[in-house]
Amino acid sequence: MKIIDLRSDTVTLPTPAMRKAMYEAELGDDVMGEDPTVNRLEALAAEKVGKEAALYVPSGTMGNLVCILSHCQRGDEVIMGNQAHTFIFEVGAASVFGGLQVHTVPNEPDGMLNPQNVLDAIRGENIHFPPTRLVCVENTQNKCGGFALSPEQIDSVCLPVKERGISVHLDGARVFNAAVALGVDVKELTRSVDSVMFCLSKGLCAPVGSMVAGSEEFMRRARRNRKMVGGGMRQAGVLAAAGIVALTEMVDRLADDHANARVLADGLEGMEGLRLEQHGLRTNMVFFNLVTDRTTPTEFRAALEEEGVKVGYYGGRLFRAVTHHGIEQQDVRRTIEAFQRVLKERT
Ligand SMILES: Cc1ncc(COP(=O)(O)O)c(C=O)c1O
Repeated sequence: MKIIDLRSDTVTLPTPAMRKAMYEAELGDDVMGEDPTVNRLEALAAEKVGKEAALYVPSGTMGNLVCILSHCQRGDEVIMGNQAHTFIFEVGAASVFGGLQVHTVPNEPDGMLNPQNVLDAIRGENIHFPPTRLVCVENTQNKCGGFALSPEQIDSVCLPVKERGISVHLDGARVFNAAVALGVDVKELTRSVDSVMFCLSKGLCAPVGSMVAGSEEFMRRARRNRKMVGGGMRQAGVLAAAGIVALTEMVDRLADDHANARVLADGLEGMEGLRLEQHGLRTNMVFFNLVTDRTTPTEFRAALEEEGVKVGYYGGRLFRAVTHHGIEQQDVRRTIEAFQRVLKERT
């Protein structure tokens, strides 16, 4: 029986084209700036997101950290959503390594930050206050359901912030999902931010790695900070080669994952015992709550696993199913049937 693993798009495996590119990659020492494959990937990434320069980093978490460190000094304050990945899932890195204070504002159900709330959170001139240096936005916003935020929504948060002389970083781990879902060039989603991180290793299927991008001057600082946190990787072209395939061959097919997620959401909607999170333009995620007292989250998850379906658990009664490369239409149908069987016995 095929295991249908919907826990995350991070479980994707490199494609045959990636493995071939990795095998054949031309290599050098990237810390010395001499790995031609990494250099190609960085130029390609910068061009895709409309920034002057880009940098290859081992993970999204490191990419966000390197950007935050490159924008801020110890003692500064960073504003972000209370559901932000950087706030919840990155081990407090900004505080631990940057000596920064995180100031959260509530995310709206679709993942948006209310622009006025963000402006109100900016500190004024006062000897008692830490200076506000940075605002972080996230698109798609993972914990809020992975809905795509439009260029206008992102601009509405970022532009007033930048008018106050404060920088903006985009955690765009899945910004290509957002762009594909909206039918816009990804540059439209990055035009009003100073730095962006996006992941190659999620829906785009590369085995390892993320990119950060911004101005040339910013990227010089980011390169130093990457070295400081141990992200200088020598012959990293062997990995970057897969990243080039990810960016050139794997972006458009994200639309298939989104179509599968829609079918899954339609199939789960209205099922007794479930309540779907429906707050915006869906990409590759389906978040749902278990709303029956006849089973516990642990038992429900185990019963689905016996049917060969794995879903992610987000605490309380909240679950996540993520579609990705390797999940086909028939897997979505099998998943819906598995849910029906599991819930029938428990509602
Ligand atoms: C929105 C978001 N940002 C950052 C990350 C971190 O990426 P990584 O797992 O590569 O550290 C993730 C990972 O799931 C994510 O969903």
